[in-house]
Amino acid sequence: MNSALFYQYYDSIYTASKNYRAETEAIIERFGDITGRTPQTVLDVGCGTGNHAFCFAENHCKTTGIDIDAGMIAIAKKKIQRPDGNPAFFVCDIAGLSSSGFELAVSLFNVVSYILNTGTLLDFFSGIHKRLSPEGVFVFDCWNGVAAILSPPKEQVKRVQLREGASAEVSSIPSPGPSGEIVLMHNNVTITDAAGEISGFTYDYTQRLWTPETLKDLLHLSGFQVMFVTDAGDLKTPASPQTWKIAFTCLKRI
Ligand SMILES: C[S@@+](CC[C@H](N)C(=O)[O-])C[C@H]1O[C@@H](n2cnc3c(N)ncnc32)[C@H](O)[C@@H]1O
Repeated sequence: MNSALFYQYYDSIYTASKNYRAETEAIIERFGDITGRTPQTVLDVGCGTGNHAFCFAENHCKTTGIDIDAGMIAIAKKKIQRPDGNPAFFVCDIAGLSSSGFELAVSLFNVVSYILNTGTLLDFFSGIHKRLSPEGVFVFDCWNGVAAILSPPKEQVKRVQLREGASAEVSSIPSPGPSGEIVLMHNNVTITDAAGEISGFTYDYTQRLWTPETLKDLLHLSGFQVMFVTDAGDLKTPASPQTWKIAFTCLKRI
């Protein structure tokens, strides 16, 4: 993969169509429903280029964003304009984070689907649990493994208008492993600039299509109570087996 092009175009191709502000406000509202308060401190695990973290900071939450990908954190840090240094970004996984006592932790846009084995996901949930304050809240979203069994992922092509008359065509080709639970996603991106010059890059990533029942078991073992399993696009609508993108809202139980 041409990683320079991947990072250069990441936000304009992958995050431009997402409403980070609305997602953040829905989570703050959910936190309020559960605790009767607004969160003062937020941990964003797998924060990528920091889009949710900036929205939490705008909502007066002292926010820490962490990600294992240094390229993503470099983009997030370039966006920092606030004199108070909020949000703060670090390249690390949850085990490498020294601070704790967060009232709210989030892990959004399928971070959990990047974790491929059960032991690693248990450590991930336990690490988040350990860094929450008593009765802290954890919200994450991911693909629904049951929806994927009912309607397996298919090849998709999307066209995105970029700045200055350029456009991108992104084709994503899923290759399910033998069990269907692990899917290799192969992506071809072709960029056409205003003068018709073409460039491009490819990249692959692997996702695990966790089922809600397995996630509930691992969350329970990590000390969480699962409060709601909903449509990720609407935290008040319960997920059905067909809901492809689901969100879990959890409370630190012990
Ligand atoms: C699709 S991006 C989502 C980024 C961001 N949360 C957003 O909503 O734009 C998934 C991110 O998860 C990060 N990631 C994957 N596994 C991780 C882990 N174990 N710990 C921290 N970050 C992780 C990846 O590096 C990537 O930046």
